[in-house]
Amino acid sequence: MSQEIPFADAAIYRLSESLALVQSVDFFTPVVDDPYRYGQIAASNSLSDIYAMGARPLTAMNIACFPINCLDKDILVQMLRGGAERVHAAGAVIAGGHSIEDDEPKYGLSVTGTVDPRHMVTTCGARTGDQLLLTKPLGTGLLTTALKGEVLTETDVSEAIAGMVALNKEASEVMMRVGVAASTDITGFGLIGHAAEMAEASKVGFRLYMERLPHYPQALDMAEIGLVPVGSHRNKKYYLPRCRNARPIDPLLMDLLCDPQTSGGLLLALSPERLDLCLEALQQRGVNAWHIGEVIDSAAGSIELEP
Ligand code: CO
Repeated sequence: MSQEIPFADAAIYRLSESLALVQSVDFFTPVVDDPYRYGQIAASNSLSDIYAMGARPLTAMNIACFPINCLDKDILVQMLRGGAERVHAAGAVIAGGHSIEDDEPKYGLSVTGTVDPRHMVTTCGARTGDQLLLTKPLGTGLLTTALKGEVLTETDVSEAIAGMVALNKEASEVMMRVGVAASTDITGFGLIGHAAEMAEASKVGFRLYMERLPHYPQALDMAEIGLVPVGSHRNKKYYLPRCRNARPIDPLLMDLLCDPQTSGGLLLALSPERLDLCLEALQQRGVNAWHIGEVIDSAAGSIELEP
């Protein structure tokens, strides 16, 4: 099955005509100091690949690395508590896990879910004329870099923290109800990378309207003072060659486009007839969404940038 669907966010194993297992794993070093929040963010991020496919998470296993001899054990407990809270909010259960001693804390989940393979959403279904929606603002890479550099405090970036904690559950459920052509979640490759990968998998080009890109408060201020994460440079180097623009683009918006995200939103491609219905349904479920672009008949994986 996974050979038939090479462009999905998670591994897929078909059990029957109407049932497939979906599995993903992700973990990373702390993005915020508060261990409970960190646990929540890491768990939400790990669940995101499952939601991007329209699958339902069932079980999750903890993966934790922790310097048990130099840090208070309560920090580990808080971390795991935060993760468990998100897993329960997702309607799944923690089925176990594994922890090892390490110099720096790392945490995440291995998640197993199910989906009806006839209805699952992958990255390869976008068609020319489809519209592009993004369900979370951008800028978590810039803001967590500012936190690490102690330029901003966790109170300053509370909106971004709430955004990273938020599950893509509601967005995923709406997407399954409304019907979309393609979906992916925005994480380390930034909007630019995940958009390019989705466009390539769908053998189309994307047009993005840069002024429409949503961002968390102060993200552009951090770009302006040059507090750009390492991952952003990597994303630029790798994905900028696929971009073209007839008119000049604000370099700060380019930093936003390439910013690696933690627990980012879903990027959805859907037919123009379903656009308003989808926006309305998302709003009813308390999910913000931004109409950031459209699918165009262009070289596979290419991105056209409009100011
Ligand atoms: Co993903």
